[in-house]
Amino acid sequence: MIKTIKSDIAIIRERDPAARGILEIFLCYPGFQSIFIHRFTHKLWNLKLPLIPRILSQINRSLTGIEIHPGAKIGRKVFIDHGMGVVIGETAEIGDNCLLYQGVTLGGTGKNHGKRHPTLKENVVVGAGAKVLGSIIVGANTRIGAGSVVVRSVQGNSTVVGIPGRVVHQSGAKINPLAHSALPDAEANVIRNLMDRIDILENQLNRLQKAFQNLVDDEVIDISKLGDAQNLKDKEIIEFLGDDKTNY
Ligand SMILES: CC(C)(COP(=O)(O)OP(=O)(O)OC[C@H]1O[C@@H](n2cnc3c(N)ncnc32)[C@H](O)[C@@H]1OP(=O)(O)O)[C@@H](O)C(=O)NCCC(=O)NCCS
Repeated sequence: MIKTIKSDIAIIRERDPAARGILEIFLCYPGFQSIFIHRFTHKLWNLKLPLIPRILSQINRSLTGIEIHPGAKIGRKVFIDHGMGVVIGETAEIGDNCLLYQGVTLGGTGKNHGKRHPTLKENVVVGAGAKVLGSIIVGANTRIGAGSVVVRSVQGNSTVVGIPGRVVHQSGAKINPLAHSALPDAEANVIRNLMDRIDILENQLNRLQKAFQNLVDDEVIDISKLGDAQNLKDKEIIEFLGDDKTNY
């Protein structure tokens, strides 16, 4: 326990040049204070003591503005910077060396019991106000942008931004947000659905025009270009998706 607390202090000195001494860290760093109290309440939680760990966790919240459920597992050298508004759920797990800024939520989705909060592997940075929701895994060395909402597991060494969170960098390489392999499924599905609907509409129009042409024989209508994605924007979407039209 003492070793862990020493490493909690060491990481603050390492990461925050403003931290001048151990006394200052004890008195002025709510992130440190909350993890310090949590390490104790977590032990009581593991002993299956009723109510007391929850009460201590609420006192911790009142003192520091950081709410950590006593069941949450927090690794070594975890630093919560500034801290106010951070919420860490019961089944959340935070790996060694992670850095969380103010307003971060490691929250649950749904009302099921069991694992329902995220797991952060080692060395993850979660930007101010970011929400990481559900029983997902955020791979080691990943950075989550301020204000992002991450609802799917993320591979290691990634940078995730936006709502819903999408990967913009992986292993140092920039990812084109419209590149097929990097598109979050939700976005890709919306584009595919729209393409499907355009095809249906074009085919219906094609049939209507054929019927119309039968009625008005003397008027020649060029129907050869209908029924297939023809305009520039459609072609661009197909190129970005990297799919052949026959895949839709
Ligand atoms: C996500 C983050 C780590 C990325 O840093 P980076 O590797 O330097 O990445 P870049 O600044 O090159 O940004 C990459 C792209 O993501 C976008 N982006 C960066 N942060 C973003 C965010 N929080 N939300 C949405 N988009 C973001 C950039 O605009 C850029 O888009 P582009 O390629 O279309 O221009 C950083 O922007 C961040 O949010 N850090 C958290 C910092 C924080 O919370 N500080 C609190 C201090 S109290």
